[in-house]
Amino acid sequence: MGDITVKGGIPLYGKVCIQGSKNAALPILAASLLHEGISIIHNCPRILDVENTVQILREAGCLVKWQENSLIISAGNIQNTRISSEYATQMRSSVIFLGSLLGRMGSASIPLPGGCTIGKRPIDIHLSAMENMGVRITEENEMILAKAERLKGTKIMLRFPSVGATENTILAAVLAEGTTIIQNAAQEPEIAELCRFLNEKGAKIKGAGSEKIVIEGVRSLQDSEFVLMSDRIVAGTYLMAAMSAGGEICLEKAPIFQMTAQLKVLKEMGASMRYDKDQIQLKAPRRAKSLAMVMTRPYPGFPTDLQSQLLAVLCRAEGRSKIIENIFEGRYQIVPQLRKMGAKIEIISQEAQIEGVEKLEGTAVRACELRGGAALIIAGLGASGVTKIEDSWFIKRGYEDICGDLRTLGAVVG
Ligand code: EPZ
Repeated sequence: MGDITVKGGIPLYGKVCIQGSKNAALPILAASLLHEGISIIHNCPRILDVENTVQILREAGCLVKWQENSLIISAGNIQNTRISSEYATQMRSSVIFLGSLLGRMGSASIPLPGGCTIGKRPIDIHLSAMENMGVRITEENEMILAKAERLKGTKIMLRFPSVGATENTILAAVLAEGTTIIQNAAQEPEIAELCRFLNEKGAKIKGAGSEKIVIEGVRSLQDSEFVLMSDRIVAGTYLMAAMSAGGEICLEKAPIFQMTAQLKVLKEMGASMRYDKDQIQLKAPRRAKSLAMVMTRPYPGFPTDLQSQLLAVLCRAEGRSKIIENIFEGRYQIVPQLRKMGAKIEIISQEAQIEGVEKLEGTAVRACELRGGAALIIAGLGASGVTKIEDSWFIKRGYEDICGDLRTLGAVVG
């Protein structure tokens, strides 16, 4: 995926279908290692992070085959529990293999996941949960070496409701001896989706989606066929795109009930919306209203993964807006690029103060991470002239075909 160019000033009209959820797919693919047989996952997005995860599964010894958007995984013969840095450095969420490799094989060696553009991304909460379950963890040459004869169920209180640490603990607990209780668990829908996948394979998990999850260890899992839910962040990204470009769009297969916080913010910005089962119809206002303050929070709060996209819309809203980013310390990397387009944004620690301007000017900008890259497309849709986005490959990490989808809605982008 080379540069992306966006022609601004063209309102969006039409219908688009939302892809499967990236942040549900990744832990579910890791979870397929826990079962010595077959896992079939339908509606899997063909994105870079999923392709990377498939490579890690193959490296571990799985047979993995794509059939359009379905993945057929056979994990009968795992002979390698060491993840090479080739994939792990490209995708820090490979840390999710810690729990499933330990659960299946009793050992795992994973590269110390570096930080990334949006933050240091430590994994201390993951590691302390594993140690509570009897895992011995050492570090050697930038690798984490984890070993456990048999994982033991126990009570685990997470100091922060980390999504990844909750997922890793669930994966380690499914085949463990006894019962594991996770307190202060993350409540993101992707956690509930992971537990739905595992329960359909014969796991015994209760409380998914709440702050207390109880996992009763079982001896083994069974073959299963699963249909992945849609991606609430991709859906929100497209709604923000319409707010920036103007027009009226309809999303199909949108996970509406997971989008309450973002739909509330869109309404406050002047969007008029109608809902019907899994469809969202949004009519954009002539100009978005400003927002006194929006804070990103763990689910069900406003998602950090939609913060950059919202920021791009508020750059042209009527009046002053404020965003407070509470999850990742580095999630304003995209601001200098938006300023190049004429945006008026002040960053004071974790707070962004935005003075809405009538016009943004298309120019050459550079993506530096996934959601920031999507935000630049959104800014370009509402700018005058053409915006060229370099390093647009970041966007392919999470969006199956954002340019194709936006072209379906009438955008001139590609
Ligand atoms: C998941 O990341 C998502 N990634 C992120 O989406 C998402 O932004 C994030 O959850 C929050 O919702 C996937 O699901 C693959 P966390 P994760 O552990 O699990 C700190 C995207 O754009 N923390 O909930 O890494 C951490 O530094 C991506 O799709 C520790 O301090 O998020 C951060 O400040 C980006 N120690 C906060 O917790 C730890 O051991 C939230 O992190 C773990 C996390």
